[in-house]
Amino acid sequence: MKNTWSSFAASAALLFLLTAAPGRLAAAETVWLSSLDLHGVEQDWGKPHADQSVDGHALSIGGQMFEHGLGTHANSTVRLALHGQGERFTAKVGVDDEVGKGRGSVTFQVVGDDKTLWQSGVLRGGDAPKEIGVDLRGVQSLLLLVDGGDDISYDHADWAAAQFVMAEGRPQIVAAPAEPAVVLTPKPSPKPRINGAGVFGVRPGAPFLFTIAASGDRPMAFAADGLPSGLTLDAHTGHITGTLHEKAEYLVTLRARNALGSTVRRLKIVCGDTIALTPPMGWNSWNCFACDVSDAKVRAAADAMVGSGLINHGWTYINIDDCWEDGRDAEGRIRSNQKFPDMKGLADYVHSLGLKIGLYSSPGLKTCAGYEASYQHEVKDAQRWAEWGFDYIKYDWCSYGDIAPKNPGHADLMKPYQVMRAALDEVPRDIVFSLCQYGMGNVWEWGARVGGNCWRTTGDITDTWSSMSGIGFGQAGHEQYAGPGHWNDPDMLVVGYVGWSANVRPTHLKPNEQYTHISLWCLLGAPLLIGCDMTRVDEFTLGLLTNDEVLDVSQDPLGRTAGRVAKDGPREVWARDLEDGSKAVGLFNRGESETKVTAKWSDLGLNGKQIVRDLWRQMDIGPFAGQFEASVPRHGVVLVKVAPAK
Ligand code: GLA
Repeated sequence: MKNTWSSFAASAALLFLLTAAPGRLAAAETVWLSSLDLHGVEQDWGKPHADQSVDGHALSIGGQMFEHGLGTHANSTVRLALHGQGERFTAKVGVDDEVGKGRGSVTFQVVGDDKTLWQSGVLRGGDAPKEIGVDLRGVQSLLLLVDGGDDISYDHADWAAAQFVMAEGRPQIVAAPAEPAVVLTPKPSPKPRINGAGVFGVRPGAPFLFTIAASGDRPMAFAADGLPSGLTLDAHTGHITGTLHEKAEYLVTLRARNALGSTVRRLKIVCGDTIALTPPMGWNSWNCFACDVSDAKVRAAADAMVGSGLINHGWTYINIDDCWEDGRDAEGRIRSNQKFPDMKGLADYVHSLGLKIGLYSSPGLKTCAGYEASYQHEVKDAQRWAEWGFDYIKYDWCSYGDIAPKNPGHADLMKPYQVMRAALDEVPRDIVFSLCQYGMGNVWEWGARVGGNCWRTTGDITDTWSSMSGIGFGQAGHEQYAGPGHWNDPDMLVVGYVGWSANVRPTHLKPNEQYTHISLWCLLGAPLLIGCDMTRVDEFTLGLLTNDEVLDVSQDPLGRTAGRVAKDGPREVWARDLEDGSKAVGLFNRGESETKVTAKWSDLGLNGKQIVRDLWRQMDIGPFAGQFEASVPRHGVVLVKVAPAK
């Protein structure tokens, strides 16, 4: 009986194998990554290639050739929908030999449903390929990531011999989930509200210009109680001008009134040795126009700063980046090129709007874009900029590498900035000194010592999630070096229409990524330099840049900038102390799907009941004890203020 049963079972199993199983076996398919539709592959340079490197050569890693694979470039994201049908992913990864030995540096990562399944460590040109073999069973969505770190040059990355074993179906490369561009910032009230910095530094004898930033319907009338002698206020424009001669602190009460009401706000004026007591806020031409900048575009940016109302939220500087320079005249004075026929006239125009104006140079013979730079003309250049009326100088490093020793030590790195500092100290004008040498020699440790008001801590930003988030979150630990008058600068903002050329286009950052960008830069006390075409600021971008409660975090007079207080995988909490005894806290989600992020009082050094206020929505959420937890979207943030409950 038993035998009969088992022989029946065996023949049934055989029958099953002959009927159902062959179907199943045939469906278990091996699929090359390069055979998929590659349109959804995101990368920061070049185009993805099937079975070829990003430069179109046969795939080759560490001398090994591959027939199949995906040739991409850092930073790169491949999003795959597997629907739990995958079994295994295998590949050999590395930097393509086309870049040469030792060049490029990338990290490959395989992420399944938000869990890191495999990571390569840093690989460079010439390194042997690293072999991947990961189990995909149960995985719904898979990410193949290539991270170039700060700098993506030569990061030609190959997913060679990359293939999936599928139980059934084929993987599909999918686009990032669509996100609506929701404006969180409430519309500004028509009643007067005074915004912007509450503390302002000026040096004795320097021309004073401070514009009262106030939102609300016009016409508006301004007044100021306790304005020191030497300063006058224009009651219609809110521009305070003049000169202070004594080192002293003055507490001024600013007043604004319109048909709907009136308001007051305190301003502390500190006449002393330090300017930029809060991080500079303004615009810079580079991320939108690069070398396509001109006098007309700068004037248009200044006009738009006023016309869009951004000036009413504290935005002040209009900065010309590279590409304005020409040669020198017979006396060695720098000349502007034909795109800038009248630098003094331009500066006067920008000042007449209540704004300030900035410029760019380099300590070498040439700027980064190959224009005339300041080497051995530092004193003359500082004088010229001051005569023209400039208020901000971004001072790069480019081509100074040819002058400095091959492996520059700290003294060599500091030298060009000390020389320019000394030159700036001789001019009767306050000029914000912005160092731009990408963080070499841990500039944050000595930037203040050479008299920098801010210093770039990283290479150039681009408008991608990996660039912006890598740079922004990479600032952890730098907070101890920043403070009033001297700030870490993780580079300019990449929101709105950018493009580094005559052809601007909307930023590639998704809406939540842009909220992360602005929140993080405010927490970090970074200079806030809008990098977009100011004549095309759309409603979403305007919302991002006019939230006074968010900007107050950046401009907090205490000047204590945020550090990371907690990290749990993609979840990070950053916090800074504010002057009023409260804390600004950012709950960030660097992961690929919505998740809960918790800010624990124990991480924030808090006790008891605290009132939590959502700064983007400008709304109290309520009292919380012990911790505050929020659901945070992919690549998004919840930015709150936490203050003791009364
Ligand atoms: C460097 C800087 C950029 C920009 C260009 C100008 O790359 O980092 O921000 O100023 O030079 O050439």
